[in-house]
Amino acid sequence: MYAITRPLHITVSLFFYIVAYVMGGQSVVLALMSGGAWIGLVYFCCHEFYAGYVRARLNTDMQDIPGYYLSNPDNCFWVAEAEMNGRPQILGMVAVEGKNDPGSDGKKYGEVYRMIVSSSCRRAGLGKRLANTAEDFCRERGFSKIELSTSSTQKAAVALYFKLGFKLILVHTRSENLQWIVWMTRATILTMEKNI
Ligand SMILES: CC(C)(COP(=O)(O)OP(=O)(O)OC[C@H]1O[C@@H](n2cnc3c(N)ncnc32)[C@H](O)[C@@H]1OP(=O)(O)O)[C@@H](O)C(=O)NCCC(=O)NCCS
Repeated sequence: MYAITRPLHITVSLFFYIVAYVMGGQSVVLALMSGGAWIGLVYFCCHEFYAGYVRARLNTDMQDIPGYYLSNPDNCFWVAEAEMNGRPQILGMVAVEGKNDPGSDGKKYGEVYRMIVSSSCRRAGLGKRLANTAEDFCRERGFSKIELSTSSTQKAAVALYFKLGFKLILVHTRSENLQWIVWMTRATILTMEKNI
């Protein structure tokens, strides 16, 4: 919805509707198909932007959580669980990977990944608790700072990180996806950090 309601995409889809209508002998069907095709392409790019990221993660760290996160003392992975209707349910997760910080005399920093809270229990403080847990771990490991990346469309995450004292340090569009796909989403990638 964010991408489709950007002025650029509204203009391009209107252009396609009008041109197809005029060139196609005032055919409403052709006009709808033409403008719809652009909207479909925008939808495909947005889907690919996020689904491609999930696919890539499922083939890397998320494929072997114990091996990737739990076998290295500088990494960790937390899962928030609660009993709901008598059954244990996973409500959220977050991970930290310790990395070498080239700018701070051999000190390390923690990069936060995989922060998510189940949609059924958002705005109840769990995201904040998970982020604080990750921050406490980074402090215990003696890391100089915490870093993370999110996208401009993840408004809740951006609001959460600002509330927790993170600062925006970089806005860019580099990702594992093809550049034109990222461009079509009209999203940017935000890198944020917090000194600890
Ligand atoms: C981001 C996310 C983890 C937040 O989890 P949460 O449990 O809902 O967050 P909390 O209840 O702890 O919120 C803490 C603060 O963050 C901010 N915040 C959280 N959700 C917000 C929203 N939808 N809109 C505005 N601010 C929001 C608020 O300042 C909130 O404090 P408040 O409730 O006292 O106003 C959750 O929305 C989520 O899983 N989103 C989808 C996945 C995602 O984007 N992950 C981040 C990847 S980098």
